[in-house]
Amino acid sequence: MAGAIPVCRDQAPKLIKEVRDSTGWSIRRVSLNTRNPERGTPDLWEVRTLVDFNIRAAAGEKPEVLEKSEIVTENGKQVFRYMKALPVADVCLKCHGPAEGLDADLKAKLAETYPHDRATGYSSGQIRGALTVIRPL
Ligand code: HEC
Repeated sequence: MAGAIPVCRDQAPKLIKEVRDSTGWSIRRVSLNTRNPERGTPDLWEVRTLVDFNIRAAAGEKPEVLEKSEIVTENGKQVFRYMKALPVADVCLKCHGPAEGLDADLKAKLAETYPHDRATGYSSGQIRGALTVIRPL
């Protein structure tokens, strides 16, 4: 069970890095409740967008279609910003579901690697976070 951690820890960031390297865009995964705060802490635009996604989902929009794009000025330069919500599916629950339901082995491993883990307690259909892209114009 704990052996599955590398998919979300290593593979997803690796895929993202490949796209980043080939395009020069900044691409990350962010969340309001991070597991890895070093990689996943949102900036102000991202916090606002994540909050907005939660509001839109609560108002009945499907989490899997939530996205936002905007051209903004940052440090005097125009950039294109894009975010797409990452909804919680059943498959995510074994690592992001309620802490008391997690496999003991996995839980110990998570606690060791991620002392500041806030990414448990989710249920299916909630918004876990988002993919975020910044593209220079
Ligand atoms: C096998 C365990 C496991 C499963 C299953 C899993 N995750 Fe994760 N998730 C992790 C780990 C570990 C991290 C920390 C990654 C890192 O160190 O960058 C993480 C990080 C993330 C992040 C980055 C933001 C943060 O909190 O640090 C997002 C977003 C995320 N997961 C979404 C999902 C979604 C959506 C699913 C289901 C489609 C899912 N995960 C399934 C273990 C898992």
